[in-house]
Amino acid sequence: MESLITIRDLSEPQLRAILSLSFQIKKNPEKFSSLLKGKTVLQLFVENSTRTKLSFETAVRKLGGANIAFTGGASSMSKGESLLDTVQTIQQYGVDAIVMRHSSGGAIDWISKAVGLPAINAGDGQHEHPTQAILDAFTLLEHWKISPDASSPLAGKRVIIAGDILHSRVARSNIHSFSKLGAEIILVAPKTLLPSDLSLFPKVTMMNRWDTSQGKEILAGVDAVMMLRLQLERQKGAFIPSLPEYRHFWGLTRERASLLKSSAVILHPGPMNAGVEIDSEVAESSQSLILKQVENGVYARMGVLACNS
Ligand code: CP
Repeated sequence: MESLITIRDLSEPQLRAILSLSFQIKKNPEKFSSLLKGKTVLQLFVENSTRTKLSFETAVRKLGGANIAFTGGASSMSKGESLLDTVQTIQQYGVDAIVMRHSSGGAIDWISKAVGLPAINAGDGQHEHPTQAILDAFTLLEHWKISPDASSPLAGKRVIIAGDILHSRVARSNIHSFSKLGAEIILVAPKTLLPSDLSLFPKVTMMNRWDTSQGKEILAGVDAVMMLRLQLERQKGAFIPSLPEYRHFWGLTRERASLLKSSAVILHPGPMNAGVEIDSEVAESSQSLILKQVENGVYARMGVLACNS
């Protein structure tokens, strides 16, 4: 297996190859059911997760491999054991690869090199969440019936990423992914929740408000809107006036969603703060692909594991 730490470091053909394999797996999962036979993947979740953790475990099982499932809070890390000692200890049980989520950006790259095992990033701090971006691109391509096999498969599509961009690893990975796949990207966030230095990002358009003539025009013309969770656990300081004001100015409310064209789709990586960044009835509307994203998480992660095997 090979490591997957960032979308940024993938070439467009590498990204499309993972997407293509994920499509093949979803179409015919039986064909890949023994790919990881005899292999053990350490699922090292030092930060909480529902979707990523359970879908990675499911993906390994469906590929015929075995999991060692580890959660930091229920381990001897809570007694002060270091990350390195923890991984070196578990390595003695026989581990072929690591899937890791950690609250520190760069921790996965460091541990992979320190113990000499391939590693797949399941989210590292505010840095990247590459498999989320792969499942998001997969979901859009599937919905729009576009093959990932030709270059720039999302060319001509306009995608909004809105909300807490500053603290979001999902936004970082998706900006790189959508850009490599040819989409036009528009970021919508209060100034306090946008990174001050966008020089490492590909080209994006930025908007600070929905409720301007430009904002309404963009909302009416886009093909997809991805709302991000307000990441209160990472915010060190006052970034927004209050939750009700955040919803009022920056939430995807029923009124704003009604401006979207009927073919536009709504994404959210989850978990959601329903009634804050997105209204419940918008998340549950026929335009929402949120549960499809969850379902496709398994196939995208099988694609990543298979591509790197
Ligand atoms: N989208 C996502 O990473 O969700 P979890 O935190 O539940 O894994």
